[in-house]
Amino acid sequence: MNIILTGFMGTGKTITGKLVSEKLGMEFIDTDKIIEEREKDRIVRIFQIKGEKYFRKIEEKVIEEVSLKDNCVIATGGGAIVSEKNFRNLKKNGILICLSADPSVILKRTTPAKDRPLLLKSKHAIQTIKELLERRKPYYSKADYTIDTSHLAPEQVAEKIIEIYRNEKDKNKS
Ligand code: S3P
Repeated sequence: MNIILTGFMGTGKTITGKLVSEKLGMEFIDTDKIIEEREKDRIVRIFQIKGEKYFRKIEEKVIEEVSLKDNCVIATGGGAIVSEKNFRNLKKNGILICLSADPSVILKRTTPAKDRPLLLKSKHAIQTIKELLERRKPYYSKADYTIDTSHLAPEQVAEKIIEIYRNEKDKNKS
């Protein structure tokens, strides 16, 4: 069983995912990192040069592949879950945990937005964050669990994820 982390930019998917993987001795996979390695370019440049549609296609392919793995902690990009195909693939062998945070906290954590193509050009980043969050609400709410990370340190978030994982494993045993 995999632990899949979804949620908006700046909610801590990568940092807490790494912590969880270290604590549980599971492999850590960051789908954005795989995309960058494959494309030999930064996400922000892939968006600029080839466009979001192209990025989403690669993202789907990568998610399809990593969903076949087992015993991994998988951090996905903030928009991945919007695709029904990605959702179905990730759910096949994983508990889907959404990390959330208040818009003002997200703004702080994503500033400067040099690595965030969807916020980079926005003159009113807080507005863009709120709008995107609203649009994505129905998708994030499909996760099995949600953890609000606004006022938690990554260590605390990691502990909560581990507790969820252990409970799910126990459930599967009985
Ligand atoms: C995106 C989030 C990014 C990255 C890309 C698109 C999004 O990942 O996949 O810039 O659509 O929200 P993070 O959530 O890790 O920043």
